Amino acid sequence: MAFSSRPIVIGNWKMNGLAASLDQVEAVRDAIAKGQAGRCETGLCLPATLIAAAAARVEGSRLMIGGQDCHVASHGAHTGDIAAAMLKDAGATLVIVGHSERRADHGETDMLVNQKAQAAALAGLTPVICVGETRAERDAGETLRVIGRQIDESVPRSTDPKTTIVAYEPVWAIGTGLTPTAADVAEVHAFIHRRLDSLLPSGGTTIRILYGGSVKASNAAELLAIDHVDGALVGGASLKAADLLGITSVYR
Ligand code: 13P
Repeated sequence: MAFSSRPIVIGNWKMNGLAASLDQVEAVRDAIAKGQAGRCETGLCLPATLIAAAAARVEGSRLMIGGQDCHVASHGAHTGDIAAAMLKDAGATLVIVGHSERRADHGETDMLVNQKAQAAALAGLTPVICVGETRAERDAGETLRVIGRQIDESVPRSTDPKTTIVAYEPVWAIGTGLTPTAADVAEVHAFIHRRLDSLLPSGGTTIRILYGGSVKASNAAELLAIDHVDGALVGGASLKAADLLGITSVYR
């Protein structure tokens, strides 16, 4: 299967990383500069504490820096939260919204995720909108129904296909070493593209859909070659530059 024309691999460091970890950001930056990182766009969604420092280190590089969540409001009395404009101000160009860990840990609903995606776009960030079924939902044959609902309700109608990314992350595949079969990934990604296309006034077939969940160098070639898979959202294997580069370099 042919690769997408504009693939992107995004790392999600989750709640990992101290200032000392910025050497991994620099290593990815340097590999990109030397043409050793593969023919894809690359981004790292870091803990908020590292964004400004990382953005300063990647200035002039094609490596993008992102956040992992944003608030729906532009500012105000929301202790502990971060506005999309603040991420942008710190040097981010991307932000993950609706990750299953936030949906589970913080009770985020599709409606809230939709508002966060709108807030991100308004601030000039590319939202990476996450969807995915649980193990119980897959076992019950509910996968496409659940994904369909999440897409319908989490993706704003105002979405610009060029500056919005969707990530399919089966909850049961995150951090478990388990991945769906290639046929299952192909089915869900094709379904999401069709659904986005009928949902969005501006069409949805050009929105990039990333696969996420236990992607590593050893399975990336198979997963990234699947039709309608336009890249990967990578957790654990994005913490070390060498592991992430083992994934990006699949795009030769
Ligand atoms: P893992 O790659 O560690 O399974 O995490 C996937 C993920 O949740 C990325 O957002």
